[in-house]
Amino acid sequence: MDGLGGKNILKRAVIAIVVILVIIQFIHPDKNQNASVTDYHITKLYTVPENVQRTLDNTCYDCHSNNTRYPWYSNIQPVNWWLNNHVVDGKRQLNFSDFGHYKLLKQVKKLREIVEEVEEGEMPLSSYTLIHKKAVLTADQKQELTAWAKKLAEEIYAKVPPQDIEDEKKKQEARKLKEGK
Ligand code: HEC
Repeated sequence: MDGLGGKNILKRAVIAIVVILVIIQFIHPDKNQNASVTDYHITKLYTVPENVQRTLDNTCYDCHSNNTRYPWYSNIQPVNWWLNNHVVDGKRQLNFSDFGHYKLLKQVKKLREIVEEVEEGEMPLSSYTLIHKKAVLTADQKQELTAWAKKLAEEIYAKVPPQDIEDEKKKQEARKLKEGK
């Protein structure tokens, strides 16, 4: 034994880290998985062409729906927490499984956001495409997805109650005033 020598401290630190890593393996947030497709899923409300549906399924639903396909390493902490944060954050912003619960104007906004994010290459997240090479969108996939979202946004916009559009305009003007623009 070398008392409180440096070696001993290092050994204790390593043991402490291993113990912590073992303990956190037992803490798991609930998985984002649901067997049924609800009536509020975007595919139940609107026509989604097969190729677009495939793209959404392969590259967006893991973070933007009620069903995530978890890779094996997601069972390892702290990877699981990190993934879970993306899913929670992603779903809060946009949940395709729950699309029908959005007001029409919100649906339009979300579809326009999709066009923007995809055209700018912001979505799917780069941390995701780094691992899921197949989720890198080809030019064709981007074009099909954005063309569909644009068209659907227009169709839904035509059905938005005029009062909602008025209210939204007022809200935006108030925001601009507040920001001093
Ligand atoms: C790895 C998880 C992940 C994947 C995969 C992913 N997203 Fe996201 N997405 C997020 C997160 C997290 C946010 C919120 C934070 C941010 O904007 O960066 C977000 C935000 C968004 C927003 C912004 C919503 C708003 O109202 O501001 C849109 C639109 C979006 N994603 C569309 C998509 C589309 C379309 C795909 C597939 C082509 C996709 N995302 C794939 C995680 C993901």
